[in-house]
Amino acid sequence: MTSADIRQRFLNFFKERDHKVLPSSSLIPFGDPTTLFTIAGMVQFKPYFLGQAKPPYPRTATCQKVFRSVDIDLVGHDGHHLTFFEMLGNFSFGDYFKEKAIPYAWEFLTKELKLETARLWAGIHNDDDESFEIWKKTGVPPERIRRFGDEYNFWAAGPTGPCGPDSEIHYDWGEEYGCGRPDCGPNCEHCDRFLEVWNLVFITWNRDESGVRTPLPKKGIDTGMSLERLTSVVNQRRSLFDTDAFQPLIQHFAEEAGKPYGSDPETDVSYRVLADHARGTTMLLADGVVPANDGRGYVLRRVIRRAMVHARRLGPAVHLSSGVPIVARLLGPVYPEVKTQADRIAETVRSEEERFGVALRQGMERLQPLLERGTLHPEEVFYLHDTLGFPIELTAELAKERGIEVDLEAVAALMQSQRDRSRTATSNFSAPLAGRASRFVGYDHLEADTSVTDVFPVAGEAERGARRANRRHRLAELEWVESPRR
Ligand code: GLY
Repeated sequence: MTSADIRQRFLNFFKERDHKVLPSSSLIPFGDPTTLFTIAGMVQFKPYFLGQAKPPYPRTATCQKVFRSVDIDLVGHDGHHLTFFEMLGNFSFGDYFKEKAIPYAWEFLTKELKLETARLWAGIHNDDDESFEIWKKTGVPPERIRRFGDEYNFWAAGPTGPCGPDSEIHYDWGEEYGCGRPDCGPNCEHCDRFLEVWNLVFITWNRDESGVRTPLPKKGIDTGMSLERLTSVVNQRRSLFDTDAFQPLIQHFAEEAGKPYGSDPETDVSYRVLADHARGTTMLLADGVVPANDGRGYVLRRVIRRAMVHARRLGPAVHLSSGVPIVARLLGPVYPEVKTQADRIAETVRSEEERFGVALRQGMERLQPLLERGTLHPEEVFYLHDTLGFPIELTAELAKERGIEVDLEAVAALMQSQRDRSRTATSNFSAPLAGRASRFVGYDHLEADTSVTDVFPVAGEAERGARRANRRHRLAELEWVESPRR
């Protein structure tokens, strides 16, 4: 079954059960400062759950574009972590609750998709006897229902807002993938025999800044299931990168690199990173995120740069930007904004590749011997960042791959003292101007009479930039060579 078939079947299933199928909202949440990105299907429905707006439909279903960067370091290293994914979800705003949400989920997985019932387990919250009884009645034997605390079975979209206990459905890949411990089951910390497939959240409270939970006037249902994970389970692929959502991208990058996917575990990591990051980058750009040094734009930049490190490992012919048309072909039929902007998106990625290319090459040349040495001092990490523009989190990730710890607190302290130094320098420079009030009239006038009180020799921006870079470069070179800790 293709991912397109499964997406359609999910939406049809809930449409037949009186849910209004709505389009995905943007990856940039609308009017919600609590989250940088849309991290779940429920984000566009928060005001309905909170009772702040009247829902136009009591039940909805969506396939929502979602972006999560919290596990970005893991992406590529296993078969189930992603930054961008499509989240299938059904929602009830004060309409049905657990008594329907659980049987719906069971019916969809076992009747519609025909997953083997004996492979499905339920995780519920410790206190949730009601869900235990519903699962039992639905057909799951008590030994396949496990109870957990808040760390596994409580869900909230962020520190504040609608939240509640949840029940997760886990797929059992089979004993052969297990750790063999007698208590092995969903959320096992020793093996990945079980895969969480679907999360059914029973929205019950509104949580405030201090963590206090106030019961909502109407309870709701918010479910979330990754289309990519589900496609992998339905097609019995342990890795979601082996499904139709990713294979065209992986094959493309493998062709560019001239080495087949599956021939070397290390290069396979890079293929998976590129496949995921090509999708994430393309979808973020399609929704209007632009590369920047802070906020969303910085996350995007970080994704592009992480992909570039892996592209570089695969060889000079491999480029993230060349994956954009493939993402547009794969996801354009569902999200037309990708298709219509594919050229602009590829161009933006290309210009980021050019921009960061030099820093990447220089940074890697510097970093490589240090990694081989086996230690990395905070001053070195700071130097790579401050002088060569090599991102700290990339250094930390590359170090981690080699089992080297970076003292990020010490790096942050160096950054802070550098900021303090430059603040002092700036205020010293402006001191002679202090006390002379000057009023900006340019909003209302194009001309004005005024008097010149001082004349400073000021270099042009390009010249100033070059001098600054030169000076910093020379200083850093000195620090680099003379650093006693090196
Ligand atoms: N909103 C439920 C989930 O993302 O798991």
